[in-house]
Amino acid sequence: MVGPAIQAAAGAAPAGQTFTPGPILLMGPPGAGKGTQSKILMAQWLVPQISTGDLLRGMRKDPEKSASPLGQEMRAVMNDGHLIPNELVEAIVLDRLRQPDTKRGYILDGFPRTLPQAIWLDRELSAENETLPIIAVNIQVSYTKLLRRITGRRSCPTCGRIYNTYFCLPEYETVCDVDGTALVQRPDDTEEVFAERMRTYDAMTAPVVEHYQGMARFAEVNGDLPVGEITQAIMDAIVRLRS
Ligand code: AP5
Ligand code: MG
Repeated sequence: MVGPAIQAAAGAAPAGQTFTPGPILLMGPPGAGKGTQSKILMAQWLVPQISTGDLLRGMRKDPEKSASPLGQEMRAVMNDGHLIPNELVEAIVLDRLRQPDTKRGYILDGFPRTLPQAIWLDRELSAENETLPIIAVNIQVSYTKLLRRITGRRSCPTCGRIYNTYFCLPEYETVCDVDGTALVQRPDDTEEVFAERMRTYDAMTAPVVEHYQGMARFAEVNGDLPVGEITQAIMDAIVRLRS
């Protein structure tokens, strides 16, 4: 759900189906605001958010998959702040990209996260003649802010809305404003696992940013600002790079 401040910030940008965003890639370290911003863009432009983290966590909710040896291994890898094997994530993304709601575009959140994933995606998209070229937006945030964003994050298991105990409190402390569900904390949102996720990011994902930096449709935004100002900067960049 988009609040009035964000609505106002997004006011100057095209809305709904009047704008075709095409494939958008939101990049940034853990806690940069990829999920927060993706949900706003999704509501603004009516295209899906494809978050590999959410898709992988969703698979863990299936009791059969979760209890299987693969499910248990995936849980351990994610809870330790490491990455799921490329081939597995690529298969999940390919399946999602083939769904009809991606025709006007989509917001990729958390993928690609390794150079092989980026090369795989470039190849997949170039094989599809009608697809617009990808736009990559990198959200930059300082380390100390990331730590508070991660340890303070709470989310609604029903609607997916994201809150923060430091920066974005729900109206009633522990329940979702939208549906009243008790908010939950991700098991990888501890200080120790955050440090490991940052090491993984620096080693495996920072090279992906460099990969897209060298391309024509790339923008960097300051993610240290209030949510609505970042949304405006991202939308401005996407509209400019699409024109
Ligand atoms: P994933 O779920 O993608 O985690 P992540 O990349 O670490 O990113 P986060 O979801 O933690 O942060 P975010 O940028 O979405 O921030 P958010 O908007 O929530 O991946 C989890 C795991 O899955 C990985 O570790 C890996 O194991 C596996 N995985 C996923 N994709 C994979 C892939 N491609 N390959 C292999 N493995 C993969 O915001 C954070 C907090 O900050 C919130 O509380 C929010 O309210 C607050 N906030 C946001 N913006 C602002 C702002 N401007 N001001 C103040 N607070 C803000
Ligand atoms: Mg996220």
